[in-house]
Parts: sequence; structure tokens; C-alpha cells
Amino acid sequence: MDIRKEYLEFFKSKGHEVIASSALVPDDATLLFTNAGMVPFKSIFTGDVPRPTPPIRTSCQTCIRAGGKHNDLDNVGYTARHHTFFEMLGNFSFGEYFKTEAIAYAWEFVTEVLKLPKDRLYVTVHENDDEAYEIWQKYIQKERIYKFGDKDNFWAMGDTGPCGPCSEIFYDQGAEHFNSDEDYMGGDGDRFLEIWNLVFMQFERSSDGTMTPLPKPSIDTGMGLERVTAIKEGKFSNYDSSLFMPLINEVAKIANLTYEYESGASFRVISDHIRSVVFLLAQGVNFDKEGRGYVLRRILRRALRHGYLLGIKEPFMYKLVDKVVELMGGHYEYLNEKKEYVKELIKLEEERFLATIAAGLDLFNEELAKTKDIFSGEIAFKLYDTYGFPLDLTADMLREKGLNVDAAKFDALMNEQKARAKASWKGSGDAAKESGDFKVLLEKFGENEF
Ligand code: GLY
Repeated sequence: MDIRKEYLEFFKSKGHEVIASSALVPDDATLLFTNAGMVPFKSIFTGDVPRPTPPIRTSCQTCIRAGGKHNDLDNVGYTARHHTFFEMLGNFSFGEYFKTEAIAYAWEFVTEVLKLPKDRLYVTVHENDDEAYEIWQKYIQKERIYKFGDKDNFWAMGDTGPCGPCSEIFYDQGAEHFNSDEDYMGGDGDRFLEIWNLVFMQFERSSDGTMTPLPKPSIDTGMGLERVTAIKEGKFSNYDSSLFMPLINEVAKIANLTYEYESGASFRVISDHIRSVVFLLAQGVNFDKEGRGYVLRRILRRALRHGYLLGIKEPFMYKLVDKVVELMGGHYEYLNEKKEYVKELIKLEEERFLATIAAGLDLFNEELAKTKDIFSGEIAFKLYDTYGFPLDLTADMLREKGLNVDAAKFDALMNEQKARAKASWKGSGDAAKESGDFKVLLEKFGENEF
């Protein structure tokens, strides 16, 4: 089943205009990357841009959550659901319809198009949202509707911007496969999987925390294509689905190894990261010492380090580009044109990093042998400064050994370096760099990087 196509056609049949995914680099100075389907529509929600005709839209938006506040990078590979790059299906109403229709459409799509069994479905609503609680009871028994507070059922794009209470649809993957204490509705276990978030956009939050009502109550929904594909294919991990297995198999071929889930984190990291790298490069972001290009570099370096763990010591990421384009070039046609260019850039960057990785890993291993509890902050800083290992890469390597890095020492050394740089730095002069996601990166990595 082509879920992407089914979704867009379903909402088209309900009068929505189908909008192509907009760029990963948003027209929004507070965000590093587009991190949700609603990002391109933010100004319509707030009323800064007039409502389009028809005022209802649907899209499959490519998103990246890496770097900045929405940073899933460190989890990727170790969980069943985290990705740096993912596709978000969504339907949006700018004051045209609200909760009743949004819930009705979602239920119809989930039960009649996806045909997910109703006895596996649960929903959550915000604890103060009696209206949504009432509406849902037309479709699902009360016992399957859970009420949660702001932490679970209030959605915001970032610290500022449109936001509102939300209602989520969950899929129960079955008690037989799960037995952790966290495997209950609302727990942190994997059994109950959130598949769709319906946000009832009602406010715009400003930087001082003030909530101003939007001109019209609106709808923003987000359903992750990767997880819904996995469910439809009866797989417990997104990485076992047809979106990732062809990439994982390709990595296994290059490494001349057999992929097994339990020991396969590195395969998963690579299969995730190559998608971010290909899309970012194809959209014109390039490897850089700062900003988005630096996040791109960190993603590639993390993948290369995992390749190294699999025994791949030559450039290889560029060899995966064909497979990404084969899997996704049908929908994202620009990938086909950019394929050779993307391969070339990746290969050059791989060569550059591989030249230092061996020396960096030697230093890392030498220090590791001496480490009892905490890995030296000085060496982590040296790895960063001399060998180009971002701190999160070092932390990631240590995590596999159950160790932590002395981040306080690392930060102190970084601050010293920053202070030295500050003597000559007079501000970037770029307001965008001093707000939102960029501020987070600036604080983390210093002006020499941004
Ligand atoms: N914008 C809704 C979501 O990302 O879940």
C-alpha cells in the first residue's frame, strides 16, 4: 500500500489542496530545519498571511529533527522510532473546520483506508478538552479515551508560534510482545504507539509566554509515515519496514555482514542518516563549519563512525545514494537530477573525515582503556578540536560502553576557547543566528562554529 499516496488522495477527496513538501530549510529564522508539517503554514495560522482558497490543505512534508531544540540525533539507531529525517503526513484547516471534522476524517482514514483494527486503537485528549472527549465517543468507547495534561496533549512548534491542545491516536501492538512496566497507555514503553497527532491550533505563543488566540481556531495534524508504514507491514520497528530494509541490506552488502536487529544499531544509524544527508545536499545545503551545514557534517560523521564500527574503512555512504533515490525519487523527483552531484559531495567529505578518524579513534581508545567512570573532558575536547569529533559523537561512542564524558570540563575548555574568540568577535550581525535553534547551537558550540 502506498500510504503517502492514499493519504493525499483521501484528503483531496475531502476538498483539500495537495501541497508539495516545502524545503527542509524553512523560511523561518528561529528554526534550523522544518521539523513538522505545519511549519510552512505558520504565517497562515497566525493570520500574517491571508488564508488561501480553499483554506484546507494536505501535504507529505519532509522533516529533520537534528541539532537545535528538536534534536533526535543521539537516539537514532538505538530506538525503534527515532529518525533524523522523516516524512510527516498532515491535513490543515485555517479556520475552515475544527475538531468535529478533524476527528471524523482521522477516524475514517485510520479505520477505512488503513483498515487498522478498531480494537487496537486508543485515543488521548487534553484533560480540559471536554469537547474532543465528547466527539471521540461517537467513534470509540469511553474506556479507550485517556485524558492527559499539557506534557502529553499540548503541542507547540517551538517556544514561539502557533500551538494548542492536541488529541492523539494510539495503536496497541499487542501485549504478547511487550512486558516492560512502561508498556501501558501513556507509559514510555513501545507497546502503545502514537500514530497520529491532531492539534487543535488555538493560540500563538510569543517569546514572553503570552498566549494570544489565533484569528480562527485551526487544525494541524501530523502522522509519521515511517511508523504507520511499519504498523501496516506488521513490523515493530520502523527500521524493519520497507522504507529502511533495502538501505540496511545495502549496508550489509558493503560491510559483508549479516544484519541482526539486536546488534544492528550501526546499520540503522547509517540507513537513517543517509536520508538526511541526501535530502539536505539535494536541496542545496552543504557541509560546513557552521549552522545547518555543520549539523549536516555531524550527521555524516556519525554515520561514518558507525560504518567504521562495522569494519568499513573506505568511503561508502556515497554508494547508498542510488538506493535512496530508487526508494524516494518517485515522489521527490528532484533527487534524480541531483544524484551524481550528491554522490560527489558525500565522497569528498568522507575522504576528508576518514583521513582523521583513525588517529582520532586511536586517541579515543587509548583514553578509554584508562577510563573507569568518566571519560576525560580534555581528551573529548582534543577529539573535537583536532580530529573533528563533535562532542555528541564521543558521547555516543561512550554510551555503547555505558560511560559518560566529563561534559563540564569539555564545556569549560570550550568556553575558554569561546572567550578567546570573543575578543575578536563582534557579534554575527545576524539576528537569526542569535535566536531560536541557532542560539542553542551557539551556546553549545561557540561562535567559532557559528
Ligand atoms: N504538528 C503536529 C505534530 O508534529 O505532531
